[in-house]
Amino acid sequence: LAFSRKQTMRPSVLNLTDVVGDLRMLVDRLLSGTNVKLDVQYGRDLWPVKTDLSQFEQVLINLCVNARDAMPDGGTLTLRTRNLTAADVAAFNYSYMPAEDMVLVEVADNGTGIAPEIMDKIFEPFFTTKDVGKGTGLGLAMVYGIVKQSGGYIQPESEVGKGTTFRVFLPRHIPEPAVAAEAGAIDSAIAEVGMQPEAPAAQQPEDLTGSAVILLVEDEEAVRRGGKRMLETRGYTVHEAGSGVEALSIMEELEGKVDIVVSDVVMPEMDGPTLLGELRKTYPDLKFIFVSGYAEDAFARNLPPDSKFGFLPKPFSLKQLAVVVKETLDG
Ligand SMILES: Nc1ncnc2c1ncn2[C@@H]1O[C@H](COP(=O)(O)OP(=O)(O)OP(=O)(O)O)[C@@H](O)[C@H]1O
Ligand SMILES: [Mg+2]
Repeated sequence: LAFSRKQTMRPSVLNLTDVVGDLRMLVDRLLSGTNVKLDVQYGRDLWPVKTDLSQFEQVLINLCVNARDAMPDGGTLTLRTRNLTAADVAAFNYSYMPAEDMVLVEVADNGTGIAPEIMDKIFEPFFTTKDVGKGTGLGLAMVYGIVKQSGGYIQPESEVGKGTTFRVFLPRHIPEPAVAAEAGAIDSAIAEVGMQPEAPAAQQPEDLTGSAVILLVEDEEAVRRGGKRMLETRGYTVHEAGSGVEALSIMEELEGKVDIVVSDVVMPEMDGPTLLGELRKTYPDLKFIFVSGYAEDAFARNLPPDSKFGFLPKPFSLKQLAVVVKETLDG
């Protein structure tokens, strides 16, 4: 499972009313054969935002599918776009969200609602209340990853029996003056592995260096090499494995002297979750990060409940990989 070109984040400046408009037909099709009605309310003169179009479409599709599934007896799925001034944003009172101009997209349903006790789990990878084969629990994890990568925020509001509204806030895009020339060189160096180029660093640099020993498990060689190179430049020692089976034998060779395993989920022979289960038999406290981006990665049901692991949704930037590694090691 590789980072195909398609998954690479290619941000462009977009108008979300257009995005939602173009998606209408697709959502209509998702709703055909159900008693769910689609109501689209377009905001006027929407500010531009910067995100990857196909990725953002995935966000909306996932939210719409969830909304549809929450209304088995029918209802209304409402898609709404509008501008929020900094003051409007502040009025939402979400401490984590800066009071800046944003564009809001809402996906609302009047379905089952989400019980308060599972509310803080829904974005966790593999959390699902759907039957086996119906849901993988990766939809919202992916949504969250994409929204974060776009510099945005997502917040659900729900009442059992009444319905749910997911609000996605994306910062208003203000065109910037020309970017540093060296960005081009970085772009082409990492295009090879299909990862996302770093956004030009505006904020103060974080310390993402470390000295830990990492076992990187990924069947796609180009991706593995890209990740290895990146982690090595941050000071980590990286061992590579092209499969779960290879990872087990490398672990044995190294006599368990590995601080963290970063593993793809879908791989031939032995998938990531099985690898985690095997390794934790011998090394119960071994830190583990899954890298994944697909709803097809339906698997984790064979993971023991409450097994702890980090998760990095694809596509991700090299910097995000470093951040998650650091966080998981520190955590
Ligand atoms: N609009 C909604 N109304 C009610 N419950 C929801 C809604 N959206 C999400 N959920 C709850 O959150 C859980 C996780 O959603 P998520 O999209 O991550 O996974 P999924 O829909 O179960 O599976 P997948 O999207 O991978 O096919 C769902 O199983 C459901 O319990
Ligand atoms: Mg879903």
